[in-house]
Amino acid sequence: MALYVVGAGGTGRETLDVAMAAGVDVTAFVDERRAGSTVRGLPVVGSDQAPAGAGYVIGIADAAARRRLAVLLDARGLVPATLVHPRAVIGPETVVGSGCIVMAGAHVSSSVRLGAHVQVQYNATVGHDAVLADYVSVYPGANVAGAVHLDEDVTIGSNAAVLQNLRVGRGTFVGAGAVVTSDAGEGLVLVGVPARPQSGGTSPRAFG
Ligand SMILES: CC(C)(COP(=O)(O)OP(=O)(O)OC[C@H]1O[C@@H](n2cnc3c(N)ncnc32)[C@H](O)[C@@H]1OP(=O)(O)O)[C@@H](O)C(=O)NCCC(=O)NCCS
Repeated sequence: MALYVVGAGGTGRETLDVAMAAGVDVTAFVDERRAGSTVRGLPVVGSDQAPAGAGYVIGIADAAARRRLAVLLDARGLVPATLVHPRAVIGPETVVGSGCIVMAGAHVSSSVRLGAHVQVQYNATVGHDAVLADYVSVYPGANVAGAVHLDEDVTIGSNAAVLQNLRVGRGTFVGAGAVVTSDAGEGLVLVGVPARPQSGGTSPRAFG
């Protein structure tokens, strides 16, 4: 089956790295802004050129963008694929949802549930019994402890930590290096140790 990587930016190219390491052939990138160019020797096409029935994986770190594109591509009949780097660890009884990307050095422990289009990036860890809902992103080096529940569209920034048994509400962005020590509500930007709502910020930054 043909496989398209959606997004030809940084995270898209890292997604290609995962596919190559896993021995999975990629047909092309899908990226409207870069359509017509070549990235890493692969053609970049518009989304209308990816045929129904082909596989896709979204190499974009921003949760909202992933959600928008997944809805569009599903409606066009494409099928989400899952990519796991061979140097990632996936524990027993863990479920990895469709469209997920697990990068090199990531360790996803046992009895974890990763929803659709979740990203666990380089060297991040996810503890036993954790539940990561659809479109969650765990950035490089972050640690999500055991039995944590991350609602849809949550992002955990680089080297941040979420302590065990906690719940983080939908769309909340945990800044780089923060340590979440209590349950967190929806739509927040949390920074610091212990993590607190950010003052004076703009908006969560999208990457990739
Ligand atoms: C938390 C975050 C989303 C805030 O972004 P923002 O709203 O654009 O924030 P700004 O850069 O405008 O900073 C606003 C204030 O918050 C502080 N701040 C920003 N990020 C912070 C962080 N991670 N920890 C502590 N303080 C932080 C800034 O120093 C600034 O403080 P000041 O007002 O006293 O000067 C962002 O900084 C962040 O951490 N993103 C994750 C980065 C990451 O993990 N990248 C990995 C890519 S692979």
